Amino acid sequence: MSVADRITLRSPARLVVLVSGSGTNLQALLDATEDPAFGATVVGVGADRDGIEGLSRAARAGVPTFVEKLGDHPDRFSWDRALTKAVDAYDPDLVVLAGFMKLCGADFLARFAGRTLNTHPALSPSFPGTRGPADALEYGVKVTGCTLFLVDAGMDTGAIVAQRAVDVLDDDTTQTLHERIKTVERSMLVDAVGRMVRGGWTVDGRKVTLL
Ligand code: GRF
Repeated sequence: MSVADRITLRSPARLVVLVSGSGTNLQALLDATEDPAFGATVVGVGADRDGIEGLSRAARAGVPTFVEKLGDHPDRFSWDRALTKAVDAYDPDLVVLAGFMKLCGADFLARFAGRTLNTHPALSPSFPGTRGPADALEYGVKVTGCTLFLVDAGMDTGAIVAQRAVDVLDDDTTQTLHERIKTVERSMLVDAVGRMVRGGWTVDGRKVTLL
């Protein structure tokens, strides 16, 4: 049996959250971190586009924001380098991709792999990609859910930190199913991040254990 090192963070841990949309997962983290006992502070919020509710939520909470748009860069590499630099400026302990609709590149992973989380609205390894709820519905599964994982170079392939199941109802549409998943996803995210920042975790191959 191998003994994996326990990873622990500063207290309170510094979180940077990246968003591309409505930011309800971000909001759940902002709400949770209002309580000092949670053990973390959201120190910065980044996005790959302007004008989204996620950025407004951060602004209302008084959290600094930044935007790095792919289109403002000659290629993906330079965008990834700029994103990495922008995130690094906040000196984060954990980076949380909360509905961030871009794959992180080599620079980002070299700097933040092992401490970057992403949340996906399906039960990995099923239905990776941007259409998790729609693909689950089309396939006809009776149970789907959400997955929190440590980001690697693949599409929703990283080591799994937490999962929650959600029943698919006979009259579900993609939207009703996704909304029900998101309710569970927010609580999974807050619960797991809280445990990681307060107790630490180990990674042994693909097995992540929250302590
Ligand atoms: C979440 O279901 C996330 O997993 C997916 O997009 C949704 C983002 O929701 N990638 P929000 O922006 O946090 O409200």
